[in-house]
Amino acid sequence: MSLEVRGLTKRFGGLVAVNEVSFSVRNGEVVGLIGPNGSGKTTLFNLISGVLRPDAGEIYFEGERIDGLPPHEIYRRGIVRSFQIPRTFDRVTVGENVMLSAKGQRGERPYVAPFRRLWVRQELELAEEARELLEFLKLSQVARNWGSEVSGGQMKLTEIGRAMMGRGRLVLLDEPAAGVAVPLAHDIFRTLVRINRELGTTFLIIEHRLDILFEYVQRVMVMHEGRLIYDGDPQGVSKDRRVVEAYLGGEVG
Ligand SMILES: Nc1ncnc2c1ncn2[C@@H]1O[C@H](COP(=O)(O)OP(=O)(O)OP(=O)(O)O)[C@@H](O)[C@H]1O
Ligand SMILES: [Mg+2]
Repeated sequence: MSLEVRGLTKRFGGLVAVNEVSFSVRNGEVVGLIGPNGSGKTTLFNLISGVLRPDAGEIYFEGERIDGLPPHEIYRRGIVRSFQIPRTFDRVTVGENVMLSAKGQRGERPYVAPFRRLWVRQELELAEEARELLEFLKLSQVARNWGSEVSGGQMKLTEIGRAMMGRGRLVLLDEPAAGVAVPLAHDIFRTLVRINRELGTTFLIIEHRLDILFEYVQRVMVMHEGRLIYDGDPQGVSKDRRVVEAYLGGEVG
């Protein structure tokens, strides 16, 4: 089992943003997480990645309890997340951006830094790995461009590249295709599926464009007002009365 969440609850004052949510994700799955605005999806990601501490419940990653651990420790164990608004640095090139997340390794530890040979070799290995990854993501052409110069879709792919360089085994993506043109959104999802197949990475993906998402995932979880109201195949989503009411209610109210 990759991820297991039991009775997870997070309150903001009187608001229960995540309400006794339980589910599990198997290694190698690609799972979509949907729900109307404000239903608690990003908060759930913040809890899993350690940005927020739950008020109740437990989170296990690969069999070990991780709730309450600091974000860097959860990241070190292999859970990587992207943010809803891409955090790509404007004054850094696409290539450097992808490299950056692999940093904080040997060369930067003061007691290893003197052994220059050690970390030069590691830097070269990282550079080679980043080069391969950029090629894999079809970003090689823009690797030397500034973050501010590339398209929204390329920025999204850069963000995914950062997550991959961070050696994520479980990658949490918050709207990886938001605000990009439809063909590019498909490109992004195809890339994710390719990463999943070739590297075995497990994905949990928040996405508002259901028609696109449903083409690429076998399983969808639906949140509404902090609760998990559906967990099953994409075909069943539109036939589920609670889900339909949640979305209609959201649009009317
Ligand atoms: N730091 C916070 N402090 C107070 N309330 C918050 C905080 N973060 C989120 N909320 C509230 O918790 C609820 C769930 O928010 P969340 O961002 O998790 O929703 P979401 O499903 O990601 O929505 P969207 O689809 O719009 O991104 C919302 O009512 C939101 O206003
Ligand atoms: Mg959100």
